[in-house]
Amino acid sequence: MNNFIYHNPTELVFGKGQIARLSELIPAGKRIMITFGGGSVRRNGVYDQVVHALEGREWVEFWGIEPNPSVETVREAVALGREHGVDFLLAVGGGSVIDGTKLVAAGLLYDGDPWDIVLRGKADRSVPLATVLTMSATGSEMNNGAVISRRETREKLAFYGQYPVFSILDPETTFSLPARQIACGLADTFVHVLEQYMTTPNQSRLMDRWAEGILLTVKEIAPLIRADQRNYDAMSEYMLAATLALNDMIRMGVTQDWATHRIGHELTALHGLTHGATLAIVINGTLRVLRKQKRGKLLQFGERIWGIAEGSEEERIDHTIAANEAFFRSLGLSTRLSEEGIGEETIAEVERRFNANGYAFGEAQNVDGAMARRILEACR
Ligand code: NZQ
Ligand code: ZN
Repeated sequence: MNNFIYHNPTELVFGKGQIARLSELIPAGKRIMITFGGGSVRRNGVYDQVVHALEGREWVEFWGIEPNPSVETVREAVALGREHGVDFLLAVGGGSVIDGTKLVAAGLLYDGDPWDIVLRGKADRSVPLATVLTMSATGSEMNNGAVISRRETREKLAFYGQYPVFSILDPETTFSLPARQIACGLADTFVHVLEQYMTTPNQSRLMDRWAEGILLTVKEIAPLIRADQRNYDAMSEYMLAATLALNDMIRMGVTQDWATHRIGHELTALHGLTHGATLAIVINGTLRVLRKQKRGKLLQFGERIWGIAEGSEEERIDHTIAANEAFFRSLGLSTRLSEEGIGEETIAEVERRFNANGYAFGEAQNVDGAMARRILEACR
């Protein structure tokens, strides 16, 4: 195991009716700004619950943090927060609202343009933020990452900000999610685990088994949720699985990949394709192209997650990669670029961007421009 420091300060407040705790969780005397997306919370009653819970407190509202939040929107939120001397942020929504709010939190304490913070990759200071999660996928409710888009240049880049002070997860808030968002959320959760698991074997039994516990859970609950997305217990497991998949817990002391995510971000930046939907395609290319390097883990993944234990090693790996692709298809997602009308022009641009930025992703740091091209070609 490699050396590591684990420190996750986010307080998780989980379960039915827990939004009512908001007022006791936000310290008294704070000048609060609440941030929202496009309005789903007005339709599903979450907004009313928040307003009710904060009776007697004052706050400003910022609406309109869009999916794949943009720095252009964040600049407007920073201006509003400055105007009101805001010193506490509450993000109410999915990963996009939370990520955008992480940059607002840093932008409030930074004199220049928030995009500088994204380019630097790290925020030095932030005002505290908390979240009420309504869409499970990103783990942003319990990590310090955020991914921000810049519309004018069609870029999408990640930076590290701060962990939320607390996050409220009420599974009932997810009952109103469109089925496609749930499919993308399950795919994102699954691939977050693979980015931290599908590397080199024998680094940590413990990390492997935590990761496999999440993978098996997602595999088991996916059909239950597709049959009935108001199944409280299944939605609870989905919510917690997504949080645990990316809250630093399953990557202690082990190597990580993240090539699939980097390529996926380029596809979102260039085509607007939803994050989870990009991963459901790219991961198959990653596994095909890097099957030699990931051989030991592919065999373990095949046996422990898909029950594939018969045949030669090459046959088992073939069946494992096929089972993985079939799982994403069972969610109702595309697994090929051609299904989304993405072709050579995009592949060339992704290769160019990898080269221009000197990217080297993957546990062996060998996913450069040429390898990104091979991966995309393998999921045409
Ligand atoms: O904007 P509103 O009206 O709220 O609608 C949203 C949005 O249209 C809707 N929605 C959310 N909760 C709902 C709901 N609709 C009905 N009922 C509810 N309860 O869902 C749509 C998508 O929301 P979004 O926040 O974009 O989804 P998600 O949580 O998947 O976030 C995606 C963003 O997070 C980034 C992605 O790249 C993408 O930009 N990621 C962030 C990570 C992190 N911070 O660690 C890691 C991830 O790998 C990912 O990259
Ligand atoms: Zn993701």
